[in-house]
Amino acid sequence: MGVDLPGPRGTLRPLLAFNADPVGCLRRWHAEFGDVVGLRIASIQLVSLRGADDVAAVLLDRQQAFVKDAFTRGLSRVLGQGLLTSEGAHWRGRRKLIAPTLRRSHIRHYAEVFVAHARRWVERVEGEVDLHHEMMGLTLGIVAEGLFAAEQAADVDRVGALVEQIMAAHIQTERSWQMVLPAWLPLSPKWRIDRAAAGVTALIDRLIAERRSRPPGDDLLWRLLEARGEGGHALDAEGLRDESATLFLAGHETTALALTFAVELLGRHPDAMGRLRAEVAALGDRLPTADDMPALAWTAAVIKEAMRLYPPAWVIGRESVKPVAIGEHTLPAGATVLVPIDAMHRDPARFPDPGVFRPERWLDGAPRGRWDYLPFGGGARVCVGNHFALMEAVLVLATMVRGARFELLRPTPPRLMASITLRPVDGLPVRVTRTPAGAAGCE
Ligand code: HEM
Repeated sequence: MGVDLPGPRGTLRPLLAFNADPVGCLRRWHAEFGDVVGLRIASIQLVSLRGADDVAAVLLDRQQAFVKDAFTRGLSRVLGQGLLTSEGAHWRGRRKLIAPTLRRSHIRHYAEVFVAHARRWVERVEGEVDLHHEMMGLTLGIVAEGLFAAEQAADVDRVGALVEQIMAAHIQTERSWQMVLPAWLPLSPKWRIDRAAAGVTALIDRLIAERRSRPPGDDLLWRLLEARGEGGHALDAEGLRDESATLFLAGHETTALALTFAVELLGRHPDAMGRLRAEVAALGDRLPTADDMPALAWTAAVIKEAMRLYPPAWVIGRESVKPVAIGEHTLPAGATVLVPIDAMHRDPARFPDPGVFRPERWLDGAPRGRWDYLPFGGGARVCVGNHFALMEAVLVLATMVRGARFELLRPTPPRLMASITLRPVDGLPVRVTRTPAGAAGCE
């Protein structure tokens, strides 16, 4: 079922290289071989498609020919048949239920939660910290309060710890030979994932029970509890659990990474940081609100540029369910197709000087193709939390910069570790110093 595609020759050497550094490999292979890169690993045909038309074909025009790839499907060990991992009519029904609560028009009321959490963070944190770890805690707290109206901080922390364990086990699975072995083998990382997943399930059941016992609200969990499907049926316990786990996991680490990399890049580009401080100061002696979004254009450009250089979701995976023509090639059924978001964002044909941090490129009005910049994916399965995430990142960054200064304790750019997300190896050590606005407590 092979198809002859440009790409690295041999099997073992490219496989080892890809396992060790998938981000670097895709960057290099696309630079060397062009928009289409093929790789065969045992019986697996891997195809990475960087060209705009090919990406559009996979994510939109010919999406019926694809399902999520085996790696993403593997997440159903944790997420069940939630929005991220389900397919077909089941997925469509859930998307209809959840998308309205995260629309641009609806997320304004989350703005206060974003700013309140960032403000408390500024008041609490000073000295040398791992900013990646801090941002994970901050965004987890925001999801817990904004989407789940959760009151038990200890439970939320525990979910965070379990998510860490799941990610660590995934990294271990992916970075070893276990990646190419069938999922039914009782390998220890997968066993650990199942155990952590059971812990997440128990905690989420508790959050749901606790939420039921309190008055109605506008949070997403309440809406899920109230939602009725086509036949007037409520979501059953399993459905509630799957969607809650999905939103917990999908909804915090990615945004935490966007914030972490933004602070890292600002630390290495004092001019950009100066302009951000000036923008925030121009708001006056008060905290930012949803209405300030248009005035925070530079802050938004910094976040967008950070997600271009370090896309938290660095690759999107699909699997073809039937033979499908993409450009001049026909891919067989069962091919694993990658949309290499990171390599697309560093393609010089899309972004001049692609390795350079230049937030201005988001403000200069230069024409940009729909399939050139995809931090949130595209097509029917585009990130359902994209507006939520962008507003969250902008308001949190503005509030942090208003109240504190950040000094990088490691002068070199971060080494990257790619698992489901793209993370800085060893986190991001920074020294946080409160400024007068932060020390006074933001009003
Ligand atoms: C900077 C932050 C974020 C990034 C970079 C990001 C990225 C992505 C990407 C690339 C996809 C598409 C995956 C695919 O096509 O296979 C996706 C899907 C998804 N995201 Fe996000 N995301 C972010 C924040 C959020 C937030 C805040 C939430 C929840 C509030 C969320 C919930 C989801 C869900 C549920 C899906 C699956 C949607 C579906 O298949 O219908 N994400 N995200």
